[in-house]
Amino acid sequence: MAFLFNSDAERARIFAAAFAHELPTLPFVTDSASVDPATIKYLLTWTAPADLDRYRNLEILFSIGAGVDQFSLAALPDKVKLVRMVEDGIIRMMQEYVTLGVLALHRDLPGYMEQQRAGKWASRPVRQAADRCVGILGLGNLGLAVIDRLRPFGFPLRGWSRSPRSIEGVACYDGTDQLPEFLAGVDILVCLLPLTPETRGILNADLFKALPEGAGLVHAGRGQQLDAEALIEALDGGHISGAVLDVTEPEPLPAGHALWRHPRIVLTPHIASVTQPETAANTVIANIRRHEAGLDPIGLVDRSRGY
Ligand code: GLV
Repeated sequence: MAFLFNSDAERARIFAAAFAHELPTLPFVTDSASVDPATIKYLLTWTAPADLDRYRNLEILFSIGAGVDQFSLAALPDKVKLVRMVEDGIIRMMQEYVTLGVLALHRDLPGYMEQQRAGKWASRPVRQAADRCVGILGLGNLGLAVIDRLRPFGFPLRGWSRSPRSIEGVACYDGTDQLPEFLAGVDILVCLLPLTPETRGILNADLFKALPEGAGLVHAGRGQQLDAEALIEALDGGHISGAVLDVTEPEPLPAGHALWRHPRIVLTPHIASVTQPETAANTVIANIRRHEAGLDPIGLVDRSRGY
């Protein structure tokens, strides 16, 4: 029984070396055409193979990324465990990106960039971190890590999740009922939610209206969660003062799309957080060991929740 690795050659080289060292008896395969799918016990990939039903002895499907929305849960046999990538590289990069976005909005970088383009040398109103509440949508491993990184700046912190959480120093809200109350006090909203039927389109006109005047948005979830037209309207009307977006629908964003040009939007091409092969290999190896010892892998997807 073998491990099939389906990603690029550079990542394969790093994974293969780690596997040879740590799991020398587990055959490591990178070319699916060269093996009988029935011999594959573990598969690491971004998308499911078209002939998934031929992988009849598959025990774990590892996503190469943090998200699993690209897989059809219905098409995956119940006995196969689906595992999100929870690894230090992704976590650290997301901490960096969200901190970058929050600070850019806190210090009004979009406003200063507009002034720079106009050759205007002038200071803009300042607000202290203690008077700017940052709210995180999604309190999974990424949300928690981001909160830790933001703490030293002194922003009041809020968090919202589907089910109740308790985090020291963070005002926590949960469920649809508490979403408006959460939003009403959030000056910079950070979206780190997984894409599920419940979160599709969640960043919409109603949500923007529920935020205080002048709020900002950092979006590093999924493009399908954002109603881009509603965001542009809220920015044009001034209710939202700026947005840092790493994800769009579709991706790549087509030429000429309004999100490209808006002066109050900082746009990056889905680079906030990328799986780092050295650290990811350690995570996958540790998860195989857990599985072989009868434990659930870290990042196991709860199919009823979809993440
Ligand atoms: C990136 O979006 C990922 O899912 O890792």
